[in-house]
Amino acid sequence: MTDARLIDGNAFSARLRDTIATHVQTLRDEHHVVPGLAVVLVGEDPASQVYVRTKHKRTVETGMKSFEHKLPADTPEREVLTLIEGLNDDPEVHGILVQLPLPGHIDSQKVIEAIDPAKDVDGFHPVNVGRLSAGLDAMVPCTPLGSLMLLKDVLGKLDGLDAVVVGRSNIVGKPMAQLLIKESCTVTVAHSRTRDLPDVVRRADIVVAAVGRPEMIRGDWLKPGCTVIDVGINRIEAADGTKKLVGDVNFAEAVKVAGAITPVPGGVGPMTIACLLRNTLVACARQHR
Ligand code: GUN
Repeated sequence: MTDARLIDGNAFSARLRDTIATHVQTLRDEHHVVPGLAVVLVGEDPASQVYVRTKHKRTVETGMKSFEHKLPADTPEREVLTLIEGLNDDPEVHGILVQLPLPGHIDSQKVIEAIDPAKDVDGFHPVNVGRLSAGLDAMVPCTPLGSLMLLKDVLGKLDGLDAVVVGRSNIVGKPMAQLLIKESCTVTVAHSRTRDLPDVVRRADIVVAAVGRPEMIRGDWLKPGCTVIDVGINRIEAADGTKKLVGDVNFAEAVKVAGAITPVPGGVGPMTIACLLRNTLVACARQHR
């Protein structure tokens, strides 16, 4: 069998960002509004710092305003909540993202619930979670949204397909399952306690891997020809001692069995930021309707 088609998230996300930039320009020229995204980072987690820097760069490139709020790791919870209240009231800010994870002394759920649901570009506020699960217009979490865009690009209609989501997080697994249900897939959410996981995965036409365990999903777990979306970003040490990024799927094995697969890096990762910009644009347009 020939190797799987590689799903190019870099190329797709670059096209999406171009489209967004065009809409931003139109909003600016015709409505005199510039979409603004505020990102809040508490502490110095190195991975989070990289993400926040990339978000800032992409936001500015797309023609939007970027407001960065970097707070020390020991910032009291009350101060973070006060900052969010200010951003909720700021007419120049259309989207608010608080980078997770937060330091242990801060209650993440409380912070998420302090964000105005209309500005919640992560889609983590219970109002947006509820609206998504009810099939209503909602802010949709960026990684699942980007994954769905790639799936539709590869497969067209998803109607009637068997989808297995491995992972049940609020950030990826659960919203991914909701989106796939909306697309009329038959959805199974598997996780670390699932019995006979390889057999469950083998039923799937679509596999979304979001467990955070390097290369856990093996090639012989896959149905030949299936489509694999690998959400995992794991930094591991290779045999020669160098560090490398790998997904939750054993790529070398999976590429021999799947019909199409996202690489890591260059698959889902760049889609997440493009969808964040898309959500900011949508939030801005809704706030100025
Ligand atoms: N940390 C890891 N992924 C995400 C995400 O999608 N949004 C936020 N806010 N923090 C994250």
